[in-house]
Amino acid sequence: MLTHLFRSEPSTPSAQTHPASEELDLKKIPRHVAMIMDGNGRWAKRQGKPRTFGHTYGAKALREIVRYADSIGIEALTAYAFSTENWKRPVTEVSFIMKLLVEYLTNELEEFKKYQVRMRFIGSRKELPDLVLKKMEEAEQETKDNQGILLTIAINYGGQAEILHAATEIARQVKAGTLQPDDITKALFEDHLYTRGIPAPDLLIRTGGDLRVSNFLLWQIAYSELWTTDVCWPDFTPERFKEALLSYQKRDRRFGGLTKKA
Ligand code: FPP
Repeated sequence: MLTHLFRSEPSTPSAQTHPASEELDLKKIPRHVAMIMDGNGRWAKRQGKPRTFGHTYGAKALREIVRYADSIGIEALTAYAFSTENWKRPVTEVSFIMKLLVEYLTNELEEFKKYQVRMRFIGSRKELPDLVLKKMEEAEQETKDNQGILLTIAINYGGQAEILHAATEIARQVKAGTLQPDDITKALFEDHLYTRGIPAPDLLIRTGGDLRVSNFLLWQIAYSELWTTDVCWPDFTPERFKEALLSYQKRDRRFGGLTKKA
């Protein structure tokens, strides 16, 4: 089984506490960590609560991770809050997540300002409710000059849609004669993605036990290190996050090349 290579250790008490008691190498902190925050619904159901209860606690977990990531010098965090496919969920759950997002952006704004968090959103803004859009724009505008961690929230986001969107924009420019086909480099293509200007994620974390990328940052994760855990997102504490970082720090990133010793 290859999968165990990028899964966290089994959840015995000693395995949970031991890795996180190691010290992080502050010289090898990833610049950018992306997170698929999965398992909110299952976490809530296990406690006999509605799925939405899990999303509420998921938002609280995100707050703690942002603070911790910022405190150890991570430059960028990207969190998958709502995918282009999530519209298929019951309308009550979709409305709840939209409402939670509005609340999160309203309640956290002062905190973001205090901690110098810079907010950004990726995804298509077309189908989003007006109030959500207003809060997103307000958060981006009011935090744009902050100097701390960049928190990007993916909302109404799909990796395939993002790539199609970039290809369409580029095709338009070629058709208009403002761009030649030979000018289409990797850098130019990346300039047309929603993540323009953000370095590719060094590490992709997925909670909730599934081993897939679910249409998240498909272009950008080409060489990201993967780490998954069975822990559901509401239980994903800074200690767990640190476990992922410790695993990341032991990886040999070759980007298709060879290690020095090979
Ligand atoms: C996946 O869990 C989670 C989501 C689709 C929503 C993510 C939302 C949050 C973490 C909270 C809101 C975030 C912000 C920024 C306000 P799931 O529902 O797919 O869980 P399951 O796999 O157990 O069904």
